[in-house]
Amino acid sequence: MPAQPVMRNNGSLRIAVVGGGIIGLSAALEMRARGADVAVYESGIQLGAGVTVRAAGMLGSAFDWALEADQRSLAALARHAGMLWPDFAARIERMGGGGVEFSKEGAIVVARSDAEIGWLETLAAACQARDLPVRRMSAADLKRDEPALTGGAKAALMLPEDRQVDAQIVLQRLGAALSRAGVGFKYGRKVERIVGGQVFQMPDGERFDRVVLATGSGPLPAFFGPRGAPLEHGLIEMIPVKGQMLALAPVGGGPQHVIHARDVYIAPKSRWVLVGATSERGRADTEVEPASVAALRTRAAALVPALADAPEVTAWAGVRPGTPDDAPMIGQTAIPGVFAALGHYRNGVLFAPATAELVADQVIDGKVSPLAGAFDPLRFDKQAEAAHSALQRD
Ligand code: GLY
Repeated sequence: MPAQPVMRNNGSLRIAVVGGGIIGLSAALEMRARGADVAVYESGIQLGAGVTVRAAGMLGSAFDWALEADQRSLAALARHAGMLWPDFAARIERMGGGGVEFSKEGAIVVARSDAEIGWLETLAAACQARDLPVRRMSAADLKRDEPALTGGAKAALMLPEDRQVDAQIVLQRLGAALSRAGVGFKYGRKVERIVGGQVFQMPDGERFDRVVLATGSGPLPAFFGPRGAPLEHGLIEMIPVKGQMLALAPVGGGPQHVIHARDVYIAPKSRWVLVGATSERGRADTEVEPASVAALRTRAAALVPALADAPEVTAWAGVRPGTPDDAPMIGQTAIPGVFAALGHYRNGVLFAPATAELVADQVIDGKVSPLAGAFDPLRFDKQAEAAHSALQRD
């Protein structure tokens, strides 16, 4: 006989979130706010084992997505997330006991050659077509607003709504906010196996009504029915995309804004200046390679000469959770009651508040908003099935 749903005395829905990165914690915060009883299972012995703390924290709604003409749903998600961030940051700061370095400065995109000016113009036109705020910067604007950029910028754009946060601090504040809100943390728990039916039993014996998978590029748990038969969740494995990043000490004359060029970005925080990043599809290791880090510094110093001699604080590599179409997987899996919040690729920090909202809508309220439709976690399975049936018909 299938087990009956477990309800606590107060009748709250019990939800297990597997994964304590920014996506899992943001979803946990939103579901808790909507009355659920939430626990977070994190495989590390504390927060920060995954890719969140290796992110540059840029909220690039316009820069990252304006040019992706075939990714309308992603652009809409990015825009929505960008609009949610000011309130989300304020909420985390209020509940988490301190600031997250949410910067209202905007990002500058620079071109250094005629070919890059063409790219910049295309970006400006795409932003205008999508009603995303964008402003051309003259040489005088640049000199006044970002005097650090003396390395041959021939043209520049300001994207005033592409902001940034310190992702490491965000994760800490989210953790504090959740603890204060009564969310339980289970650290050092690799969730390899979940037994499901109408309720889900975790390896530690705890039982939940719903499970949210937010495991980043880590392995997904295996699911089994009450009698031990495997249950298929229908999710694909993530595609690892390694990114190496360099952290330089802040120096006099350093940049004040996020700066993007075609081959590098610079994200200044109060404690360091992040320079990123490589994009190595298919690589899941976190080895830092001196040649890659040196190349990042050379590119950054070509734009901002003041960074040429900035002491290196540290360098790291993270693994972005990619998907075949670069879009996240948000929604119910093939196992009723098990939901995905996966595949946020280069934009986990940006998308976090929007994904949290879409996950809570589905898990708590049973609603799939039009925005979530494009991110059905089973779409790859369905595409494979459709291709298979087409072959059969041939
Ligand atoms: N979003 C920046 C990166 O993935 O490197």
